[in-house]
Amino acid sequence: MVSKADFKGKHFISMSDYSRPQLDFILDVADKMVEVEKQGSDMARGKVLASLFFEPSTRTRLSFESAMYRLGGSVTTVADPMTSSAKKGESFEDTIRTVMNYVDIIAMRHPDNDAALRAAKVSTVPYINGGSGTWEHPTQTLLDLHCIRYAKGGIDGLTIGMVGDLKNGRTVHSLLKALRNYDVKVYCIAPDALKMKPEVIEEVKDKIDVTEVSDLPKTMPKLDVVYMTRVQRERFANQEEYDKVKDSYILDRSMVKKHGKKDLVIMHPLPRVNEISTDVDDMPNAWYFRQMKHGIYTRMAVIALALGVY
Ligand code: NCD
Repeated sequence: MVSKADFKGKHFISMSDYSRPQLDFILDVADKMVEVEKQGSDMARGKVLASLFFEPSTRTRLSFESAMYRLGGSVTTVADPMTSSAKKGESFEDTIRTVMNYVDIIAMRHPDNDAALRAAKVSTVPYINGGSGTWEHPTQTLLDLHCIRYAKGGIDGLTIGMVGDLKNGRTVHSLLKALRNYDVKVYCIAPDALKMKPEVIEEVKDKIDVTEVSDLPKTMPKLDVVYMTRVQRERFANQEEYDKVKDSYILDRSMVKKHGKKDLVIMHPLPRVNEISTDVDDMPNAWYFRQMKHGIYTRMAVIALALGVY
């Protein structure tokens, strides 16, 4: 049986750590947060969240901070790494050891793949991974799952396509790991150079049906959900390598009409560059802007559970 005690005082690091009942439990708490967000709350009164973003972020940082405020808590933030002592040569571990003295919970984004695991080793307050290099972005997955549940009425039975930079995109690594718990079929749609990380395929392949392909129009008619992603420019060694793959997939209105199911749900973690043409934005299938709102409910749930105040 899952209970609140499973989450109290715990870090939130990787989707590999969560079972189906645990994910359902968090998503159900997020459902409850829809009303809490509207009414306001003092659940987390007197608690402080540190929001440390050592890589660019709009949605993740602001939604963590807003989630904490909606729970009645306070936030202290470092949004620009140039202004923290990391710039003076302080080690990552020492930064965490410092911050945990001042706050009750830490949400952090960092360019290193192992940042979240290293932080979890030293932090005595719950550490929430807000994106760790190309490794994982597990709270994005919670909001993605919550949005899919809302748009489709459930997750089981769906065929889900992930498209774009499946090698460097941390959101799709976390999403695929989480989907291993559901009765779904997944298509990983990418050019050879951007294929899904083999270790992630390895982790899920005995649990769900995953097919790797490169042709989007041909695969699209099978999909209930298409999850588009940006080619992660910042992870490329040089511009030339990026230019080779940057326009691999561009989903536009005519493609959706021609190849998509009538009720296809189109998602994207955002920011979008050019992989979804703006002529899709006003189609009923476009969920990517509505998708963001689920980040508040799910992050409220994660914070409240980790603080043990829910
Ligand atoms: C994603 C990220 O940072 O990994 N953005 C987000 O958190 N919504 C996706 C991306 O940057 O492409």
